[in-house]
Amino acid sequence: MHTFAASISKVFYGTLIHSVSINEIEYIKQGLLFINSQGKIVKVVKNVAQEDVESVLDGVDSGKLVTLNDDQFIIPGFVDTHIHAPQYTFCGNGHDLPLLEWLDTYTFPRESKFADRDYARKLYTKAVARSLRNGTTSACWFATIHLEACKELVDIILQQGQRAYVGKVNMNQNSPDFLVETTESSVRDTRAFIEYAQAANPSSEDASSALVTPIVTPRFAISCTSDLLTQLGQLATEYDLPIQSHLCENMNEIGFTMSLFPDSVNYTSVYADHGLLNERTIMAHCVHMKEEELDLMKEKNAGISHCANSNFNLKSGMADVRKMLNKDIKVGLGTDVAGGYSPSILEALRASRTCSVARDMESSLVVAELFYLATVGGARVMELEKTIGNFEVGKEFDAILVNTAVENSPVDVFDHDSVETKFEKYLFVGDDRNNEKIYVQGKEVRLPGAQVASHK
Ligand code: GUN
Ligand code: FE
Repeated sequence: MHTFAASISKVFYGTLIHSVSINEIEYIKQGLLFINSQGKIVKVVKNVAQEDVESVLDGVDSGKLVTLNDDQFIIPGFVDTHIHAPQYTFCGNGHDLPLLEWLDTYTFPRESKFADRDYARKLYTKAVARSLRNGTTSACWFATIHLEACKELVDIILQQGQRAYVGKVNMNQNSPDFLVETTESSVRDTRAFIEYAQAANPSSEDASSALVTPIVTPRFAISCTSDLLTQLGQLATEYDLPIQSHLCENMNEIGFTMSLFPDSVNYTSVYADHGLLNERTIMAHCVHMKEEELDLMKEKNAGISHCANSNFNLKSGMADVRKMLNKDIKVGLGTDVAGGYSPSILEALRASRTCSVARDMESSLVVAELFYLATVGGARVMELEKTIGNFEVGKEFDAILVNTAVENSPVDVFDHDSVETKFEKYLFVGDDRNNEKIYVQGKEVRLPGAQVASHK
């Protein structure tokens, strides 16, 4: 009994809300959730009356107890399965052009600035803080081709305490002179980046898993030669790493890709044919997928990042998430900043609902499904479903302490509100002002105050 008490670092008492399946949100009322010094959830007790808290605490020092009020609840942190760190610099701009023209006109010139490491440090500090503040406790980041700036992004993520996959982008063809690599430098720098990122995690006994993982990141097939794609597939195998890229986002992109890779039967097969499609692969968009491409995704157990906000802004189209789910393909949500104008997964969730209603009202996504996609779905796409996504005992505590009664926040609660309606208001009306505290691996994240305006 005493050993248990000593190993506990924090206990929460109040309402806990999480997905237990794609169809079910569990509202744990008067819950006690125990976290150990490694940031793992070791015990959850439901329906504990106030007068019984002390006995259930079982000797844990009451100084470790955080008691929530009726307007507060705890949810799992959000998982952003697709976001571009350098593109935060033009988040909200440039929605007048479709994908390929948007890349040439806005994206590539902005990304080229990250050749400067000092610039990268300043801008990445803001991008990561903004993502965390919005409740993204796990993110799959694209950086740029620049090795030094990529290292900076890893350092900043570790300083701020987000869980992340970080990718050095590869581009050796169909790219402007100011943002292109040779095959040799691309592979050499990717290897150097992988080794840097793997060594950067503090090898402490008090963390249960690494926070930052490098991810192999061919930008998309258009920007990589067949030779480079093959070598990147080999690197992913050699280092046992996840892989991320873009797939079937836009019709012109698909046409151009098939003209470059005539030996592959479809766009999805281009990645498969180069050893880049497996259970650790995350493909963003997947808007215009043929039946056999979705079947190939399922066969390989690869995951999809649904980026509805971006798909509306760049007029890419509306992905058929219902069909993906019916085929039991792993799906999570992505903000895709800056194709998406918001770094918030709440906004991604809302755009996903609008997308599903616009596609087919009869089979549109319901709240339980949307919340699942934003949390457990994303964890599955990252192959982290045993580590994060909900509050099962044994998982690590990545969470948001939400307060629905923050002055000047967009959420108003009334006497008739229940826990369920407060939660739904947060999902559809709330923003980062309602995210009172953010936890990753059991530790409260301290955002650099000067970098992002405080709303309090
Ligand atoms: N395809 C290749 N690069 C990009 C990118 O930066 N954003 C989006 N949305 N699609 C891409
Ligand atoms: Fe993207």
